[in-house]
Amino acid sequence: MVNNLGKRKIVVFTGAGISAESGLRTFRDGDGLWESYSIHELATKDAFERNPKLVLSFYNQRKVAAKNAQPNKAHIALAELEDVYDVVIITQNVDDLHERAGSSKVIHLHGQLNRAQSSIEPSITYDWDKRIEIGQYCELNSQLRPNIVWFGEPVMHLEEAREHIKSAYKVLGVGSSLSVQPAASLLNKAPFRAEKTLVSLEIKGKIPFSYKFMRGKATNVVPVICKNWRKLEVNSKCT
Ligand code: APR
Repeated sequence: MVNNLGKRKIVVFTGAGISAESGLRTFRDGDGLWESYSIHELATKDAFERNPKLVLSFYNQRKVAAKNAQPNKAHIALAELEDVYDVVIITQNVDDLHERAGSSKVIHLHGQLNRAQSSIEPSITYDWDKRIEIGQYCELNSQLRPNIVWFGEPVMHLEEAREHIKSAYKVLGVGSSLSVQPAASLLNKAPFRAEKTLVSLEIKGKIPFSYKFMRGKATNVVPVICKNWRKLEVNSKCT
């Protein structure tokens, strides 16, 4: 609950909705990616083996969009919270907006657009913020692929994420429909006594027990929550 600097731990679980106001498309909103494209053609290992060119072009386009996007007030407020709390961001997002906002502990459950991996050995990954092209190979001479967790593949850093949530003082979920497992069920691992809050425009999945749901845009709600939490923590240190 308290790190070696005496800071209490806040764990933030984010989804595509926190990056929506930075101009990046979500997946299941009206104009979401999975409303326009087929998961089975673009986000599975079979899809990549069937048509690597199409899959690479989809992720190369998302790379450009993510690079051109800027962190928004929600990303920045969460990064600034580190002055007062030990903040761990557990994100389903593959953009690097949390890092670019200044968050220092970011766990990517579903991979990262600015990395590439071997298509035969997932543990071989590379910093790779440029396009991935056919004919670019890893050190085992296999075609490079996006370092993204496709449907049917194991989620990254799940155990580490679970341990952080289990030792949280507060848990905040932002911008996820809670549609995808096992990521969404991490929220159920929060301690009974932890303060638990969800911020989203809507939740398609089940709202986990004892979470307060605050309907609203991330850039409106998250900065207010962070400001209140900072004030509370600073005042509690003064008394
Ligand atoms: N502020 C807050 N919430 C928002 C905003 C906003 N400006 N815009 C959209 N949302 C909410 C939507 O109401 C929705 O609940 O963000 C959520 C986005 O849900 P999804 O599109 O399902 O995204 P996410 O929950 O991150 O999806 C999880 O599914 O396809 C996989 O790997 C992909 O990581 C992704 C995972």
